[in-house]
Amino acid sequence: MTMTTFRIAPSILSADFARLGEEVRNVVAAGADIIHFDVMDNHYVPNLTIGPLVCHAIRPHVQVPIDVHLMVKPVDRIIPDFAKAGANIITFHPEASEHIDRTLQLIRDSGCKAGLVFNPGTPMHYLDYVMDKIDMILIMSVNPGFGGQSFIAEALKKITIARRMIDESGRDILLEVDGGIKVDNIRAAAEAGADTFVAGSAIFSQPDYKEVIDAMRAELAKVGR
Ligand code: DX5
Ligand code: ZN
Repeated sequence: MTMTTFRIAPSILSADFARLGEEVRNVVAAGADIIHFDVMDNHYVPNLTIGPLVCHAIRPHVQVPIDVHLMVKPVDRIIPDFAKAGANIITFHPEASEHIDRTLQLIRDSGCKAGLVFNPGTPMHYLDYVMDKIDMILIMSVNPGFGGQSFIAEALKKITIARRMIDESGRDILLEVDGGIKVDNIRAAAEAGADTFVAGSAIFSQPDYKEVIDAMRAELAKVGR
């Protein structure tokens, strides 16, 4: 049996923005596999964060993939800018795009991996006819807009459904979970089928990032798949 590769994706939303280069270097040195980059527009979500300029600024500081989570509406205009700024994965919320298939294709044509993000209240049927263009499925375990919220346990059911869809597709698709992930619930998310774990406040609120990431990996090592 092949063991699942688990990936830890710290969300820099909870990092110190005044020292962002140092923060991303430190968190990668602490064992991060991916940098999760939350883009909010004060329109699709009620918060405003960072854009392509900041992605471009951190790009030379790390070798790991940058995973851009777009919480913006409209979506398409900004995609080539993120691709040029060094993004590797770009995900968006289906409610924020008028033409989901076109947006997925646009991301792939820009040279990035593409994914759809599902809010706690968003049905999964958006995947039905676009699985061939999907490289990542992101299940939100909080409503998007802020770090530091509590994990919504109902998300575990959706992770299970997404895992089944991925396995049935036979395609190589990452299954990411985002929101309220901590040392004490990462294992449950992994058991449900997630393989990529976003964690913002759990990591950046602590003085020793490696200690948190190591503790998360120790939990993941107990997962039986
Ligand atoms: C929320 C963002 C998350 C957020 C997670 O809208 O998409 O990536 O940073 O933060 P925590 O891990 O603190 O819930
Ligand atoms: Zn996110």
